[in-house]
Amino acid sequence: MATFPSKRLRRLRVNENIRSLVQEVRLSVNDLVCPIFVEEGLKEKKSVGSMPDIVRLPLSEISNEVQNISDLKIPAVMLFGIPSQKDESGASAYVENGIVQRTISEIRSNFGDKISIMADVCLCQYTSSGHCGIINGEKIDNDLSIKTLTDIAVSQAKMGVDVVSPSAMMDGQVSAIRKGLDDANFKDVIIMSHSAKHSSSFYSPFRDAAECAPQFGDRKTYQVPFTNPREAMREVEADIEEGVDIVMIKPALSYLDLIAEAKKKFNVPVSAYSVSGEYALVKAAANQGWINENEVTNEILSSIKRAGADFIVTYFAKLGAKLINENS
Ligand code: PBG
Repeated sequence: MATFPSKRLRRLRVNENIRSLVQEVRLSVNDLVCPIFVEEGLKEKKSVGSMPDIVRLPLSEISNEVQNISDLKIPAVMLFGIPSQKDESGASAYVENGIVQRTISEIRSNFGDKISIMADVCLCQYTSSGHCGIINGEKIDNDLSIKTLTDIAVSQAKMGVDVVSPSAMMDGQVSAIRKGLDDANFKDVIIMSHSAKHSSSFYSPFRDAAECAPQFGDRKTYQVPFTNPREAMREVEADIEEGVDIVMIKPALSYLDLIAEAKKKFNVPVSAYSVSGEYALVKAAANQGWINENEVTNEILSSIKRAGADFIVTYFAKLGAKLINENS
């Protein structure tokens, strides 16, 4: 006679030890990249209203912060700069003494290879238009923009960056940057492209943090519509053909399907960027006492990993690392 129930799946959930033995996805500090905002000319830390516990740092505080991040065993940081000058050509993004260039050199000289340095390659913080490319007339000049993006990447490579991360969504940005880096003999600098960066309302707290809101129009002529998953895969495919080393899906939480699909379809590392709005949602609810911040953070990061991300750029990197370190 058949026993009932015929399957007892609860057996493997009986206690913490057994659950731990059969745990399929295990978040590690090695899955995390910590973003840092550094502002030129700043005297002391400045909080970011829409991103509780996130600050803009002056250059003088960078090494302290990197030490904290490195003490948590997080393997990499992602740098975003806020320059004191913006202009039409975004020159402050690639000058030798630019804020990100100085930050890279400061971290490299104090930490050597102890932590990997990733840097955003984009123009929106640096252009008076607030757009990610160079404006010519009323339009973005794609091919001029990729020249400037290349100059930014090469200027960062000169300072010792490990990974350049173009986020402008200009066509051909990966091949232009690869060629520029190779010609300047930075053949080992890694390109991690924001391959499928969507036109998303989840970025608004970041625009507050990095002062990069477009002064007119929006980013819909360059960022991928969130309604177009096949177009997102074409973007990933194009970057791979252009020689990218690591692709990225951005944002993360509403885009888990695309992370999973990119992981299945392609054989390059897939990163995910859990963006400012995802952070703000959790922080806002946690500050009201409506959710448990630690538990929700663990659940979100684990879910992004479960979807297939090889690692995650996240404002929860430090909290995530603390939780992981405490439980191991
Ligand atoms: C700029 C850039 C943005 C983000 C990363 N790089 C904003 C944008 O495209 O408007 C968003 C990151 C976040 O929201 O955390 N190219």
